[in-house]
Amino acid sequence: MADLEGTKASHEYYVDEPFANNRPFYVKGANDLDWGMKKRLANIFDEKSGNTVMFAFDHGYFMGSVSGLERLDLIIPKLLPNIDVLMGTRGALRTCVPVAGKKGVALRVTSGSSMLDDDLSHEVLAVDIEEVIRLNTDVMAVQTFIGADGQLSSLDNLSRAVNLGMKYSIPTMGVVAVGKQMERTPRFFKLATRILAELGANIIKTYYCEEFEEVAAACPVPLVVAGGQKLPEPEALKLAYNAISQGARGVDMGRNIFQSQYPVQMSAAIRKIVHEGFTDREAYAWYEEEIRKG
Ligand code: 5RP
Repeated sequence: MADLEGTKASHEYYVDEPFANNRPFYVKGANDLDWGMKKRLANIFDEKSGNTVMFAFDHGYFMGSVSGLERLDLIIPKLLPNIDVLMGTRGALRTCVPVAGKKGVALRVTSGSSMLDDDLSHEVLAVDIEEVIRLNTDVMAVQTFIGADGQLSSLDNLSRAVNLGMKYSIPTMGVVAVGKQMERTPRFFKLATRILAELGANIIKTYYCEEFEEVAAACPVPLVVAGGQKLPEPEALKLAYNAISQGARGVDMGRNIFQSQYPVQMSAAIRKIVHEGFTDREAYAWYEEEIRKG
């Protein structure tokens, strides 16, 4: 408690100044959420750009050791300066990710399938809310399978995560899966993203597609775009640029970073697009220059 000595005798109440904390919250669809929810969303989305760079390394939860992620303990620390959010499993976080660095945490909370399955659409809500809290999670990531055999159970997982998230002020990110039997059309993504938002997801992870502006406009919460299969760097940067310029509020990229020959420079080039307004061509020129400089 402050000592009473030296406190100022006079007071200034700025009676002509309007209340300063009245501006709307900058994350889409979050204006009426609790302070804690907003704080965690602010840990994800940069206040200046409104965007985020999530680095996805949760592939192992059903793919095992994928190329580029053989040593999480080695690659993640190298990328930390260029990313805003760590998107991973509890096992990866606890064993391989340094706690320092003030990065947001997007925790994969569903699991139950593997690459040996023909149908990947049956998962459970595997991580309980106490674990979510213990890991200082900023958003819970829940896989959903619209149009697949596991649709009902995946939407039940999402709804249970949203219920717990609202109780403990922890946002939920609905992840749109595009398995073998799901089409990658604007019609599908408009349907899937809107369903997840209507069910209470605070962020949606989806994929870039034609008519993306309409997908983004019709979704009342922010969209982040996954990179998908590894592309040549210019194409991956174009995907990021198209998504951001057409309404995505960030990327959640994995393979197009960790399977790049230069993952550090690639993640930095993506950051230029997401936060600094670079075009894909400008970002690729910067990327090449960084590699030349060595
Ligand atoms: C893996 C995932 C990834 O988080 C998501 O697909 C983003 O990674 P990538 O850019 O490699 O697609 O859900 O199961």
